[in-house]
Amino acid sequence: MGYSSNLARAKEVPGEKTPVVEVERVIYPNLDRSIFEELKAGGIRKVLSYGPLELPNGVRVLGKGKTGIVVLTEDLKALKIRRADSPKETLEIEAKIQARAEGVAPKVFDFGRNFILMEYVSGRHISREDVDVLPKLVEKANELDSRGIQHDELVRPWKNVLRDEGGNVYILDYDDASIRPNPRNVTSVLTAFGLVDLAKEYSRVKDIKYVLERLGQFFHA
Ligand SMILES: Nc1ncnc2c1ncn2[C@@H]1O[C@H](COP(=O)(O)OP(=O)(O)O)[C@@H](O)[C@H]1O
Ligand SMILES: [Mg+2]
Repeated sequence: MGYSSNLARAKEVPGEKTPVVEVERVIYPNLDRSIFEELKAGGIRKVLSYGPLELPNGVRVLGKGKTGIVVLTEDLKALKIRRADSPKETLEIEAKIQARAEGVAPKVFDFGRNFILMEYVSGRHISREDVDVLPKLVEKANELDSRGIQHDELVRPWKNVLRDEGGNVYILDYDDASIRPNPRNVTSVLTAFGLVDLAKEYSRVKDIKYVLERLGQFFHA
C-alpha cells in the first residue's frame, strides 16, 4: 500500500482534490505585508498546495530558490513570489528580461515588484543524461544569445531547465540575467554537458548549424 500510494501521489496531477490555501501561507519566510497587499491588489488571494516541495508549514510548492517561492495558482499558472528575505528589492527587471525571452522561457502574463505570474511548465529538471534534448536546448540558448540575453546560470542547466513530456525544454529563472552585446549561453550549455572542445570551436566559428551537426554526429552515430 505505502509504496504504491506514494508512487501514485508523485504522479498526481492538480485536480479537484488539490488543497486550496490562503496566499499568506506561501509568503516566505515571514508574512511581509507589502508582498501580501500587492498580491491581493492583483487579485491573488488563494493558491494551490501542490508540487514536489513542502514548506515548513506543510504547504506544497512548485519550487523554492534564493529569491522566490513558486506556487501553482487555481487557474494553473505558475506564480513566483519574491521572498521577504530576498537580496533583490524587485522582480520587475527579471520579469522584463523573461518576457523578452518568450518562446524560450515560460510566458509572462503579469508581474509586479513582488511577483511574476507565468506559464506553468509540467515537467522535470534535466540532468546530464538528458542528451536527447541537448540540440533543442542549444537552439534555445542560441535564441537567448541572438536576443542579447545573458542568462548567467546556464553552466548549471540542471537547476534552471525543465523538460516536459513532449521533450520541449524551458529555460527558467532570469534572476541573474542581463542584456549584453555578446551573450555566452550556447557556450555555457555545451560546457555543462562536458563538450568543452565543441564549446571552444563554437566560440571561434560562431556557427550554430555547425554545432547542431556535430551534436547529431555525437549522439546518433
Ligand atoms: N514556470 C514554472 N513552472 C513550473 N515550475 C517552475 C516554474 N518556475 C519555477 N519553477 C520551479 O521553481 C524553482 C525555483 O524557481 P526559480 O525561478 O529558479 O527561483 P529563484 O530565482 O528563487 O532561484 C525552479 O527550479 C523550478 O523547479
Ligand atoms: Mg533559481
